[in-house]
Amino acid sequence: MELATTLKGQSIQNRIREVGINPNYWYPVEWASQVKPGEVRSVMIWRQAIALYRDTQGSLHALADACPHKGVELHKGEVQGSNLACPYHGWEFDGDGNCVNIPYFPKDQKLPCAKAQSYPVQEKYEIVWIFPGDPNLAEYQSPPEVPEFDHPDWFVVRIPGKFEAHFSICNENTMDVFHGFLHKDLQGWFDPVLLNLQQTESGVAADYRVSYQGWLTKLIGIGKEGTGVITRTVSIRYQYPHYHSALEDVSSLYLMRSPVESGLTRSFSLMFIRLPLPNWLLKGPLKNLIEKLILKHIFLKFLHQDVEMMESEQRNYIGNPKRQYIEVNPAIIALQRVIIGQYEKFMQQSKQPFNQTNGGYKASLTLAEMVKSE
Ligand code: FES
Ligand SMILES: [Fe+2]
Repeated sequence: MELATTLKGQSIQNRIREVGINPNYWYPVEWASQVKPGEVRSVMIWRQAIALYRDTQGSLHALADACPHKGVELHKGEVQGSNLACPYHGWEFDGDGNCVNIPYFPKDQKLPCAKAQSYPVQEKYEIVWIFPGDPNLAEYQSPPEVPEFDHPDWFVVRIPGKFEAHFSICNENTMDVFHGFLHKDLQGWFDPVLLNLQQTESGVAADYRVSYQGWLTKLIGIGKEGTGVITRTVSIRYQYPHYHSALEDVSSLYLMRSPVESGLTRSFSLMFIRLPLPNWLLKGPLKNLIEKLILKHIFLKFLHQDVEMMESEQRNYIGNPKRQYIEVNPAIIALQRVIIGQYEKFMQQSKQPFNQTNGGYKASLTLAEMVKSE
């Protein structure tokens, strides 16, 4: 549905800061290069602790991080062939979570029926993805499409993010083009105008007009046409639970969000840019060095400023959850409706009682209770 783009004050119901996730989507948990054959990692998606391991053949597996014997964390164990062995008594579990060996059992003795929960897992765009919801639904969803990946015209910069803030705060930061003020010392953007706004059950599409000026705009190709102020359109597409944001044909950002727990969020971003450098340099052995330099000297500087703001928001929310806030950007209000709506949809589908994995939130909260407009 098409929404008005007028900026207008609206009260925010702060319980958006406690809403849970709809787990029936693929979530990124780790850069693939961080899990080598024979290694185990501890990852978490919305309070579900998971032992992620790559077997000696190179295949990834994800098991609940609790041994079915006594509950020891399986990520402290070791990979043995295609199995994961618990560090305590050495029980071995295959990739489906079945107990396949107890080292002190006689060879012919039947194994007990002990199974660790397993999660659908896949590797795409050099990122490891896990489906934390109903495994029967995993095949009906997929990680976002990233056509720029491996495309020769684009140079990719991987941007890791970690925020001590609820994922709604992080998502609002990405939708919020009106915070160029924060980045003014880094030659951020200015004079933003919200041009178009649409919302569906699972996403928000917003187009903003913004202006740029300075040497940075030339480096990443915004300012080719001259030396003055350049005005461009930024298209932001939130498709629950991830983002794609494009600056015309200049850059394309895929921001994949990973909610860890209510006060901790990670992100795995792929920023595609066109650099005014020859191909032999961009594709050769210096590729990783160029990526690291751009990450450190440009994108992390922006990110650190954002992190400071997001964590400040979270601290004040924790300090006084009842304090009232005013939002003026209808794109943020639309985003909150989608986040809450997706959570309510999951709660209604699963009919889960108040518990840990659903975010510790009551299903009876309605949209009107969560976001109330003036
Ligand atoms: S607790 Fe895992 S094998 Fe005993
Ligand atoms: Fe920012």
